[in-house]
Amino acid sequence: MKTVITFGTFDVFHIGHVNILERSKKYGDKLIVGVSSDDLNFSKKSRYPIYSQDHRMKILSSLKFVDEVFLEESLELKLEYIKKYDASLLIMGDDWKGRFDWVKPECDVLYLPRTPSISTTELIEIVKKI
Ligand code: CTP
Repeated sequence: MKTVITFGTFDVFHIGHVNILERSKKYGDKLIVGVSSDDLNFSKKSRYPIYSQDHRMKILSSLKFVDEVFLEESLELKLEYIKKYDASLLIMGDDWKGRFDWVKPECDVLYLPRTPSISTTELIEIVKKI
């Protein structure tokens, strides 16, 4: 049984999120998703997500290629989460390229190309202008 793990905020859920999760699942038998907490998101991006952590976790849990979801409360705990869920592969979008290579002794790391031309930040900006 090979377990893949990925992390993210997944706010204002969009096609780029679907694509990375769908592709990640193909690398293993089980896909675990660490969803950044509202407070962690504030510390990373200086704003709270539009959707609450409970709503974001519920949306992710409802996807057929996501097997388990948990709340990611700290970026420094990546290795603890990897060990807890017995993951052997960490997948992130390539906007994070190189940033998680430090977990490599314990877990393989793969950065997949992002879906072009879409992000939560851009969507928020578009909606603000309407
Ligand atoms: N992602 C992707 N393609 C996109 C947008 C996101 O593959 N077009 C991936 C990211 O690389 C990450 C995961 O989806 O692995 C969650 O990303 P997240 O930061 O929540 O989404 P963004 O749309 O990038 O959000 P923001 O604009 O706030 O940074």
